[in-house]
Amino acid sequence: MSTAPRIDIDPAVFWADPYPMLAKMRKEAPIAFVPQLGSTLLVSRDDISISEKQIDVFSSHQPAGLMNRLMGHNMMRKDGEAHQIERRAFFPAVSPKTVKAHWIAQFQAHADRIIDTIAPESRIDLMRDFALPFSGECLKSITGLTNIGFAEMDAWSQGMIEGIANYGGEPAVEARCHAATVGIDAAIDDMLPVRQKHPDMSLLGVLLSSGMAIESVRANIKLAISGGQNEPRKAIAGTVWALLSHPDQLDLVRKGEVTWLQAFEEYARWISPIGMSPRRIAKPWSIRDVSFETDERVFLMFGSANRDETHFERADAFDVTRDTAKSVAFGAGPHFCAGAAASRAMIADVALPALFARAGQLELDDEPVRIGGWAFRGLLNLPVRWQR
Ligand code: HEM
Repeated sequence: MSTAPRIDIDPAVFWADPYPMLAKMRKEAPIAFVPQLGSTLLVSRDDISISEKQIDVFSSHQPAGLMNRLMGHNMMRKDGEAHQIERRAFFPAVSPKTVKAHWIAQFQAHADRIIDTIAPESRIDLMRDFALPFSGECLKSITGLTNIGFAEMDAWSQGMIEGIANYGGEPAVEARCHAATVGIDAAIDDMLPVRQKHPDMSLLGVLLSSGMAIESVRANIKLAISGGQNEPRKAIAGTVWALLSHPDQLDLVRKGEVTWLQAFEEYARWISPIGMSPRRIAKPWSIRDVSFETDERVFLMFGSANRDETHFERADAFDVTRDTAKSVAFGAGPHFCAGAAASRAMIADVALPALFARAGQLELDDEPVRIGGWAFRGLLNLPVRWQR
């Protein structure tokens, strides 16, 4: 175990709102061992930015980790050349060029079709009725699993991210994760002959064309589903909520003084959908006066790095005029989000402009908004009054 000072947390309080404890840690113990999480947490932006690039120490290769065991060995759990080989095979499906040439028109069609289904004057849950189906439809296009429904895509994604964060080992959570991976394997099996006969730019298409072993194809498609549904869904609903809660800032966007992309990037800094990423210590190491032992688990707290006062003024405030260049919402090293270009297009080029353009009136409803999580954080619902 590391020699980091020990800090105790109340898991329920931390889930409800991790930021006060993370601020305390940044001030008193930026590297702290938290027994309730069985890990040593790095909470300062500088330590995270430096460490994530030191892959010979902070390794993504975690043979005994939950992700490997439950979802197969994907590129996010590999280091060095082994990682780069799979990333090179994966990237053509989500590169900025492919997003522009192939996906953005499909994203737009998904958004328009889903908005058409919302009654002109209604009280809706924008998370359930727009953000969830829209993210699911976009991810079906990107992965090539167009033979499933958006609800399955969402349930499978949720099942896997709960499974890989199930540090308490709850059997029901693990069973849901297994059901998700079995469902995805069946959907892939169903699409294989189609994609082999008609290769395309979808993830299944490009991974098959790359000659990647089928077990790695399955593992990396599961990775895209685990990381590509929840985060956009939370970011769309979250940015809408943040703008409706800060009408002066929504005005700046409506007047074109600030872009939808700036609004999304600031939301992702303020409440990072992925708040943590784990690493395994690959060799004895020290950061300042803290020593780490081989094979111990470390959590890189992206959500804290994005509220680090040494890099962000009024870090706890949502401010669309802020410079977010230092945000690590998409990561800070070789595992930088492969889906970043697709996400920015889905959220800032399509979802936000479409929602605010098509809704003549969009207001928060009286029912309270629920928000939670520290490893994965965001809204659970978004009740609004909608009129178009
Ligand atoms: C708002 C949306 C999103 C956010 C905030 C987000 C955030 C992140 C973060 C923080 C990482 C890095 C983790 C690390 O360093 O350990 C990551 C990696 C990754 N993301 Fe995303 N993500 C988003 C959307 C997506 C989408 C839509 C896809 C798929 C199409 C995707 C696919 C991936 C993959 C494959 C990786 C692993 C990359 C690698 O290991 O080389 N993400 N994401």
